[in-house]
Amino acid sequence: MPRKKIVVLTGAGISAESGISTFRDAGGLWEGYDVYEVASPLGWAKDKEQVLKFYNMRRRQLKDVMPNAAHYALAELEKKYEVIIITQNVDDLHERAGSTNVVHIHGELTKSRSTAPPYNIYEIGYSDINIGDKCEKGGQLRPHIVWFGEPVPLMADAAQITAEADIFIVVGTSLVVYPAAGLLEYASHNVPKYIIDPAKPEVFSVHKNIEFQVEKATVGTPKLVTKLMKD
Ligand code: APR
Repeated sequence: MPRKKIVVLTGAGISAESGISTFRDAGGLWEGYDVYEVASPLGWAKDKEQVLKFYNMRRRQLKDVMPNAAHYALAELEKKYEVIIITQNVDDLHERAGSTNVVHIHGELTKSRSTAPPYNIYEIGYSDINIGDKCEKGGQLRPHIVWFGEPVPLMADAAQITAEADIFIVVGTSLVVYPAAGLLEYASHNVPKYIIDPAKPEVFSVHKNIEFQVEKATVGTPKLVTKLMKD
């Protein structure tokens, strides 16, 4: 018997209890920065140094935080299920908790990307990117992050993965940023769907079989995983 496939969509809320501030809870300010100034192609065009400084700060912060019980619980699911995590988060906490199949639809802090064709991507770990750091072709390196207004290249893959789910779980996302927020609609009609968030997100969905767990990720996720491991 093939193993059942669980697909999990995660957002900033799953990393909140690890100490990474969520985006909208901070009122559109990330550590004092106006997000549109630091997370958009326009912001990059205007002030590259500020953008790099912002992401260098976030990368340094990432080095000092740890996965939490929700990340670990999702990794545990792999003992019984095929699990694919589609995350909007740019942190590496799912991987550090042991999840082996993570799709980062909004990019990754631990990678840089060239601004010159063929736009190569590089592993940089937790080190800074500075003005003057260039690829072999001479292109300035930028964070490997999908900014506001940029296309989401992995979206088609994410939709396909979601359509194949036997169980679909959403943890810690306000479901307001598209196209990721629309993923729920790609899930098959009859598969069980769970949404874990302490502030029940408003869901405009054709699906009726959605079970809400209005709880923090570190409470709701291990609870759901315990249930799924027994099913
Ligand atoms: N456990 C679970 N959920 C939580 C917790 C917690 N401890 N704390 C907060 N949340 C929930 C909030 O209630 C909210 O619904 O996490 C969600 C965070 O929402 P956003 O800050 O909007 O984050 P996200 O949905 O991931 O944003 C999507 O927008 O900022 C851009 O590209 C960025 O990937 C990001 C995207």
